[in-house]
Amino acid sequence: MLRDLLLPGEETQNPEAALATLTSLVRDDLEACNRLIVERMDSPVALIPQLAAHIVSAGGKRLRPLLTLAAARLCGYRGTRHVALAACVEFIHTATLLHDDVVDESALRRGQASANALFGNKASVLVGDFLFARAFQIMTGDGSLRVMEILSSASATIAEGEVLQLVTQNDTATTEEQYLQVIAGKTAALFAAATEVGAVVADRPESEALALAAYGRHLGMAFQLVDDALDYSARQAELGKTVGDDFREGKITLPVLLAFARGDEEERAFWRRVLEDRDQQPGDLDMAQGLMRRYGTLAATIDRARDYGRAALDALSAFPDGAERRALAGIVEFCIARAR
Ligand code: IPE
Ligand code: IPE
Ligand code: MG
Ligand code: MG
Repeated sequence: MLRDLLLPGEETQNPEAALATLTSLVRDDLEACNRLIVERMDSPVALIPQLAAHIVSAGGKRLRPLLTLAAARLCGYRGTRHVALAACVEFIHTATLLHDDVVDESALRRGQASANALFGNKASVLVGDFLFARAFQIMTGDGSLRVMEILSSASATIAEGEVLQLVTQNDTATTEEQYLQVIAGKTAALFAAATEVGAVVADRPESEALALAAYGRHLGMAFQLVDDALDYSARQAELGKTVGDDFREGKITLPVLLAFARGDEEERAFWRRVLEDRDQQPGDLDMAQGLMRRYGTLAATIDRARDYGRAALDALSAFPDGAERRALAGIVEFCIARAR
């Protein structure tokens, strides 16, 4: 259990409270954003809203749109453009989830059967494309070239991260640097774009846009590191996704990389068999988890997430203290304490 790895005194009473605080701070904006999401996923081709509604109504934390909304408010923005941009960010996220679950052959998402499990791979890929295209329509509706540049670059970077992950999958020679590049692309880029556009709509100086982008990027790195630890340790019901998916697929995540590096020859032969040859027997996942415990690699992964969390907090120090800054700081804690 990852919660055993937290040092005494480091636990927050309730990490969910930080998410609730941020949500209540921007409640009206988030409600408007959710309404827009439902409106804009409509289409005369019935399968599109049907499949989209399946994943959208399953919930999800709405973390990225929350970041856009709060970043805009942190920058003193009082208009409404940020609501559509938050919806745009969630559309990009949802599109990547639909595609990702096909690529990862995942059966569970947000505590429900994944869209690919229910509707098939073809429908998931195509509706994912639709949601991406919708996101671009929302961007052009906003009209800012700068916003388009940020969100379209992030979309390209996410795809690069996923492709880089595909080509490093099942390869135990993957380096830590390559792994960090994968997660920077597939996850941190969208977090960074989500927060940066908040500053951009508020028309704040470049230094603030950069500070918010840095906050989002470091937070996204921390988030994915924790997610990669949870893939080996969480209870499925808590995560709403299948535990052990990364192992089954031979993903070279940090907990694996470190266990491989710290292991002896016999253990490395085990990792090569299960990850490279994809020859997995019952009990192998338990064996992998045992090796991670022996070498403390889940704890080391969370430590790395904490380092990124500290960098995210540093980036926030560019802003004056206030409810928004405190709520965004709380989200750093939330992302790391998910590991409990
Ligand atoms: C899932 O993101 C994809 C990753 C980057 C690990 P979230 O955990 O934020 O997904 P939802 O939106 O809350 O379901
Ligand atoms: C998360 O990928 C990033 C994207 C969806 C682009 P993962 O494959 O690590 O995330 P989960 O575990 O399916 O949520
Ligand atoms: Mg996945
Ligand atoms: Mg994936």
